[in-house]
Amino acid sequence: MVTITHEGPMDAAAAVAMLLDPRANHDPVPAYEALHHHGPVVRAGRGYYFVSGYAEVDAVLRDPGMEAYDARRLDSQWSDWRDNRAVALFADSMLRTNPPQHTRMRRLAAGVFTARRVSALREVITAQVDEAIEALPERAQGGVVDLVGQLTYPLPIGVITALLGVPAADRGRFRRLAEALTAVLEVRWTEEDRRLAHEAALELEDYFTDLVALRREHPQDDLVTALAAAHDAGGEQLTGAELLGNLTLLLVAGFETTTNLLGNGIVLLLEHPAYAERLRADPGLAPAYVEEVLRIESPVQLTERYTSRPAVIGGIEVPADAELVLLLGAANRDPARFGDPGVFDPDRPGNAPLSFGAGAHYCLGAPLARLEAQITLPALLRRFPELAPAGPPTRRPRMNLRGWSSLPVTLGPPAGGGTAPGPPAGGGTALSPSAGGGATPGPPGAGA
Ligand code: HEM
Repeated sequence: MVTITHEGPMDAAAAVAMLLDPRANHDPVPAYEALHHHGPVVRAGRGYYFVSGYAEVDAVLRDPGMEAYDARRLDSQWSDWRDNRAVALFADSMLRTNPPQHTRMRRLAAGVFTARRVSALREVITAQVDEAIEALPERAQGGVVDLVGQLTYPLPIGVITALLGVPAADRGRFRRLAEALTAVLEVRWTEEDRRLAHEAALELEDYFTDLVALRREHPQDDLVTALAAAHDAGGEQLTGAELLGNLTLLLVAGFETTTNLLGNGIVLLLEHPAYAERLRADPGLAPAYVEEVLRIESPVQLTERYTSRPAVIGGIEVPADAELVLLLGAANRDPARFGDPGVFDPDRPGNAPLSFGAGAHYCLGAPLARLEAQITLPALLRRFPELAPAGPPTRRPRMNLRGWSSLPVTLGPPAGGGTAPGPPAGGGTALSPSAGGGATPGPPGAGA
């Protein structure tokens, strides 16, 4: 827990303490509202700031003077961090590097993670959605289906493993491994979390080492083959450690977050039956629905940056080498940017949540995550017109990666026919950097 040495009124400190309390896992919104009350930036200890304003989070993410939490920072804070393979794997990936390493890795990854590959997945995703949704009735136990176990996890795992070229037979092992590994992206973790994350990282490293060797012998049209080729090629290259770090990042980022987007989206639609009815009737509304789900229940609630030089953020002077906790979830509910921010309103104009970040690290998988949700949500509603909650869903015990660990529903009788058509392809919807207008575009090649 941070020691708070704030200079403002007591309740700024209380707002930060509220956010860091494990109870905020369940509902961080009261803490976000309290922070907004104290302005877009709150100092919480020496060199430690919480940023909750939309404009300020957006500006920090786009500012080249702000640095990601890289190996150099880790070295200054934690002498033996390399002994934890989970921390080391992320530090070798583009997520936790700065230029010039980040620019090189990002360019290589964006070159293989192309719009062509993602849009070619539309049919794969639709087929997988069909299959998963058709199988739901037989997965029911006592008339109840857990949509997390039976849909929102298996579907994104199936999609990202198809894209990477991970054999379908291996899919079953990744939920447990990703849950363990991503604990190191949270604000709080225990020794046990660290140990489990380390073990999961070792297993994933071994797994990808073997798969890369296999793909070198038998190349396929997949991301593992393409990234391994980028490792082997002359000129700009990935090191062996970077290859493993980025493959693991793509796998884990590819489904842990998308699982949460799907689960959050289903819960919100069950809570708002009139909107669900509209989406069921018109799947073309899916892009706007998905943006509003992303805004109000951001699957990634925060990230961090460090100042490389003194800066003024939200009117506050911040010294060099300060840590900025960027509260994406709070920025998405900033009343200075969004009217009635607590209201779920897919019709809101100019919706451009920061859920995929912005600037140089803008999420590489945003078009894919959007596409998966835009196909799945209306398809589920149309196949099961009487879909209803069968009890309260259970929250994942996570502050940052926000989602549900179980979501029990009754399906009701299925409607006839196959999967509903998804939203229209192209047309600046599913594959645009920000489907809701007022985009948050990344660098050239971002979301390519
Ligand atoms: C709803 C789903 C998703 C959400 C909310 C999400 C969110 C984010 C955010 C906030 C960042 C930026 C972090 C920062 O600036 O520190 C990011 C980066 C990234 N995401 Fe996603 N993501 C999602 C899905 C995906 C998918 C499906 C993939 C891959 C297939 C993916 C791959 C990546 C990668 C590689 C980065 C690092 C980019 C860089 O550092 O240049 N994400 N994501």
